[in-house]
Amino acid sequence: MTRSTPNPLDDERLALVDAMHAIVPHGIRHDIRRISGAWIEDLLPEERAIAADFTDARRTEFATGRTSVRRLLRELDSADPPILIGARRAPIVPPGLHASISHCETFVATIASKATHIMGLGVDIEFHDRVTPDLADAVLSRTEKADLKRDRGTRSLACYFSAKEAAFKAVHGLIGKYIDFSDIELTICCDRFVAQPLFVDRALEDIRVEGRVTERERYVLAVAWASPVRASAQI
Ligand SMILES: CC(C)(COP(=O)(O)OP(=O)(O)OC[C@H]1O[C@@H](n2cnc3c(N)ncnc32)[C@H](O)[C@@H]1OP(=O)(O)O)[C@@H](O)C(=O)NCCC(=O)NCCS
Repeated sequence: MTRSTPNPLDDERLALVDAMHAIVPHGIRHDIRRISGAWIEDLLPEERAIAADFTDARRTEFATGRTSVRRLLRELDSADPPILIGARRAPIVPPGLHASISHCETFVATIASKATHIMGLGVDIEFHDRVTPDLADAVLSRTEKADLKRDRGTRSLACYFSAKEAAFKAVHGLIGKYIDFSDIELTICCDRFVAQPLFVDRALEDIRVEGRVTERERYVLAVAWASPVRASAQI
């Protein structure tokens, strides 16, 4: 009998699935999968055409994200449309559904929902040691710096970085533009955060952007969702 060699990434994946499960609210589906070229054959023809000019590494990452998010959408809606690339690189998902994709070198993280009170979703996965201290000035407001200093040990700069990236993805479909780290201020309490936009945009009136962030193994993982203020208590 041959024994397969244990792969540390399998243990990491299980830890990340567990971490996602802990932070993703009820009604939002999620997936963590190893980035692998094996997913390329499952791309739909339209997605394959998009990926034709990609490098091998980018095609592999793209295919892992597309097949992961399509699995979640199939579970929610039984439809299986190609996930094309929209404005400012956002993935295009069918009306009435929301989804988000993130990748680091090893894994893809995806989330999706058809909840009517969700208006945008964002996910982010990072190696936490890639968010180096020299990024603090770019990522943190003065208030966030003070919060981080006071709470040192319970959360890291990487949590702020990742939560803001997830929050950006959650609001991008509403605001239709790029924003900077300095355009959002986070209030983090345990693993929960509220992302307050520091800019005025009518699309965000009466919208609450919130999420959860966690560190597990060598990763930081964040999910964010935008919902009408009156509905946010349901999530
Ligand atoms: C999207 C962004 C936040 C992260 O992209 P990244 O560094 O490649 O890292 P990730 O792997 O986490 O995310 C990539 C995925 O995000 C999704 N994405 C890209 N642009 C997006 C957008 N405008 N809106 C929503 N999702 C987006 C895509 O699905 C992409 O994967 P794919 O290209 O395989 O489809 C970043 O590239 C970006 O656009 N930054 C500008 C805005 C910003 O970061 N502001 C600071 C935080 S407020």
